[in-house]
Amino acid sequence: MEKLRIMSVFGTRPEAIKMCPLVKELSARDGIESLCCVTAQHRQMLDSVLKVFDVHPDWDLDIMTPRQTLSSITSKCLLGMDEAIDALKPDMILVHGDTSTTFAGALSAFYHQVAVGHVEAGLRTYDKYAPFPEELNRVLTSSIADLHFCPTAGNRENLLREGRDAGVFVTGNTVIDALKTTVREDYHFSTQALNRLPYGEKKVILVTCHRRENYGEPMKNIFLALRQIAEEHRDVELVYPVHLSPVVREAVDQFLRGAPRVHLIDPLPADEMHNLMARCYLVLTDSGGLQEEAPALGKPVLVLRRETERPEAVAAGTVKLAGVVQDDIVTMASRLIQDRQAYEKMAHAVNPYGDGNACRRIADAIEWRYGLRKEPPADYRS
Ligand code: UD1
Ligand code: UDP
Repeated sequence: MEKLRIMSVFGTRPEAIKMCPLVKELSARDGIESLCCVTAQHRQMLDSVLKVFDVHPDWDLDIMTPRQTLSSITSKCLLGMDEAIDALKPDMILVHGDTSTTFAGALSAFYHQVAVGHVEAGLRTYDKYAPFPEELNRVLTSSIADLHFCPTAGNRENLLREGRDAGVFVTGNTVIDALKTTVREDYHFSTQALNRLPYGEKKVILVTCHRRENYGEPMKNIFLALRQIAEEHRDVELVYPVHLSPVVREAVDQFLRGAPRVHLIDPLPADEMHNLMARCYLVLTDSGGLQEEAPALGKPVLVLRRETERPEAVAAGTVKLAGVVQDDIVTMASRLIQDRQAYEKMAHAVNPYGDGNACRRIADAIEWRYGLRKEPPADYRS
């Protein structure tokens, strides 16, 4: 019997971290030919993840250019996907999350009348400009998808409210599957500077910031806040692996570089990043993925945004919205640095986003949909 051809499409670092475990799970299934097509919307940061997870794409659109615009990413993905679909002839295309690659990948599948599975479906802020352009990317992708793999029950409720009730599964987030393979107690960093950080003696604060809606004034406020935190607290060390976006790098150079106790480093391989997170004191970030990973590792998170599509860890008390106003960020971070009780209240491990079996559930759901399995997978419950 011909194998079912399932093609995973991704292009940025977070999609790769969350899709590589699924590509591997699908490869382990007898009835499935697991194909991998990367758009390379990110080049270096994507390749770094592929290396960590030892995944070798069957097709590479290689679209990235410096300072790429949203239109250029989307149009290049669409044109490149035509060739990939013609060559690899998938029965179903899997896209992940909310990037330009996600939306273009889903749209291209639709143009070719290929079924679409959306991994990390149902996240919403209901504000189309925050996060921008991700909120609309995921709404549009939901309209195209045939199968929706929701990390949480709340994500499914969002889809139900939009009238989508067919093909919806609650699976947990594949990022927890990824974390289970990367985090080790005896991990030794290959980035030497990370082995030398004074984890026990000082408060190591892990920072990331890259979102498009934070470009300009918000990013300036965030970086001035980080500078102030480092200047006012001698017992902290801030570690910031700076995104390769030139817009972000310029803002870092203008507003943060040279501050005491701030370590500006290049993006880290995923395994290094996850183990650094496991050892740090606190996380300050505008990232989506870090809001899921840090709670699982028992690390408090202050989110450098006005909203979040990930309310579960906020409800669990390990994540707080700090916003993008300098004073607010400094006040909230200072409290967690100085007030042990406030810190302990937030620092407990919670896993609202998964139990490490999301990939198995997604693969089971696909097999069920194509008649390779009798029962659909049971939902993930947190
Ligand atoms: C993209 C996603 C965002 C996601 C983020 C993860 C969109 C619209 N945005 O944003 O949802 O949170 O990735 O990091 O899809 N660059 C490099 N090398 C790399 C990666 C990026 O040089 O490996 C530079 C390039 O100059 C590129 C720029 O960064 O043009 C911006 O990359 P882009 O993918 O357009 O946007 P992100 O801000 O990274
Ligand atoms: N990450 C990484 N190296 C870094 C910074 C982040 O491997 O230097 C990982 C992080 O652990 C998480 C993912 O990248 O798994 C998040 O990606 P990003 O913040 O770029 O995008 P978002 O999640 O906001 O879409």
